[in-house]
Amino acid sequence: MRRKLAAGNWKMNGLAEALSELNELTVTYGEAPVDILICPPATLIDRASEAAEGSAVAIGGQDCHPKTSGAHTGDISAEMLRDSGASHVIIGHSERRDDHGESSALIAAKATAAYDAGLIAVVCCGEHLSTREAGETLPHIGKQIAESLPDAATAENTVIAYEPVWAIGTGLTPTVEQIAEVHDFIRAELIARFGETTANGIRLLYGGSVKPSNAAEIFATSNVDGALVGGASLKAADFSAIIDALVAA
Ligand code: PGA
Repeated sequence: MRRKLAAGNWKMNGLAEALSELNELTVTYGEAPVDILICPPATLIDRASEAAEGSAVAIGGQDCHPKTSGAHTGDISAEMLRDSGASHVIIGHSERRDDHGESSALIAAKATAAYDAGLIAVVCCGEHLSTREAGETLPHIGKQIAESLPDAATAENTVIAYEPVWAIGTGLTPTVEQIAEVHDFIRAELIARFGETTANGIRLLYGGSVKPSNAAEIFATSNVDGALVGGASLKAADFSAIIDALVAA
């Protein structure tokens, strides 16, 4: 059985006062039957980790550099995230792929860095609308997964998030049939590459406009083991409703 995961990606949102939302979560979820992850901006990881200590909420980064240290102004290494109290890191989010020109090869190098630092990598994939309209979604996802996952990926060190780019922050979501098609496909690709045992342990999250009103339906979908949530993770009340839907699924 894969343990379910509700992951929140705060993106470039959140000043110190946002920690009150996290505090609300840590009070509500001192313990939980699912994994809970909040990825605040890097500036808050240290404080967020302290605030979440002893609760069911884990803290993660949103990106890392493939190297451990060096002359890379403005970048953050996986080891630094770990040192700040993070246990996870999001890798290859479409906003990194698109805004920063990140290739799948670079993302694989970042995932390796995450593993080396003892972090769980949440590796993202997803198609643009033009790719979906061209009927190329599955080959595109297959290529992203093949190139973004290192051979060292395991059920313990890797989570995959499928996030159609056109669904992120837009309020649009794929049909549950479309989500199931991609998640089932990813599972099959993982089995072909890593074998049943490893592949069946890797959690697959759906991401893109997940909110309290659609969470239950999405969580009932084949091979969906949780969600990566952007906007609706910023408010504890909304994210709690999503966590509760996951617990009930
Ligand atoms: P959204 O973002 O929930 O605001 O659509 C999801 C994500 O980008 O991880």
